[in-house]
Amino acid sequence: MADLGALPAHIGIIMDGNGRWARQRGQRRTAGHRAGIRAIRRVMEAADEAGVHNLTLYAFSTENWSRPRYEVATLMRLFEQTLQEEVDELHQNGVRIRVIGRREQLSARLRRLVQEAEERTAGNTTGALTVAINYGGRAEIVDAVRALARAGADLTQLDEPTLAGALYTAGLPDPDLIIRTAGELRTSNFLLWQSAYAELYVTQTLWPDFGAADLLAALADYAARQRRFGGVPELD
Ligand code: FPP
Repeated sequence: MADLGALPAHIGIIMDGNGRWARQRGQRRTAGHRAGIRAIRRVMEAADEAGVHNLTLYAFSTENWSRPRYEVATLMRLFEQTLQEEVDELHQNGVRIRVIGRREQLSARLRRLVQEAEERTAGNTTGALTVAINYGGRAEIVDAVRALARAGADLTQLDEPTLAGALYTAGLPDPDLIIRTAGELRTSNFLLWQSAYAELYVTQTLWPDFGAADLLAALADYAARQRRFGGVPELD
């Protein structure tokens, strides 16, 4: 495999454009989501081959409940089905599965499947797949502060590491690269805290069309950037 240069340790992906993809084909939006799941498989394989073993996918935002009932129900069913179908293989490959977001609003069945998948794969260290469902970055920060308050922390002394450790993503490295498909130039409440220094990569490609070549293009773009974390570039 060609040298890809600096690789992100963790990539976050905003998988947008499923609806447009379906409309272009005269299909229902839900057909776009099904195609989106096929894209996830391709991208996970390509990421693994490239040496990136940590992915976080934005599957359902706290705002997505306002979509048509049929679409929400189908998405929830797809999450359940996909979890059931994929856990074995992910586990065999040493991938730790985590779901981030507010769970209370998910169905009891989905919550149970999530918990089983998380418990079963908790000891895996080869890779991590984190799926954001009913996730909002602001809600996550609010939940973290509430959890700390409930645990009796002195919030007047709150510092960044303590807050970061109370987020849903505790223990995961911050994403180095956030990829957004389908062209919108915003982060839409995704990993608000964690993406403070992430590089953003936006492509016009619709998520169901995104494949290995698109991932490699994003990685090449990332490798060519100079990350400063607010400092000055290093002198040679
Ligand atoms: C955005 O496209 C996509 C979503 C809101 C859903 C993404 C979910 C999947 C690909 C399924 C994921 C499944 C698992 C198990 C992780 P859009 O519908 O907003 O597209 P549009 O902007 O073109 O309408």
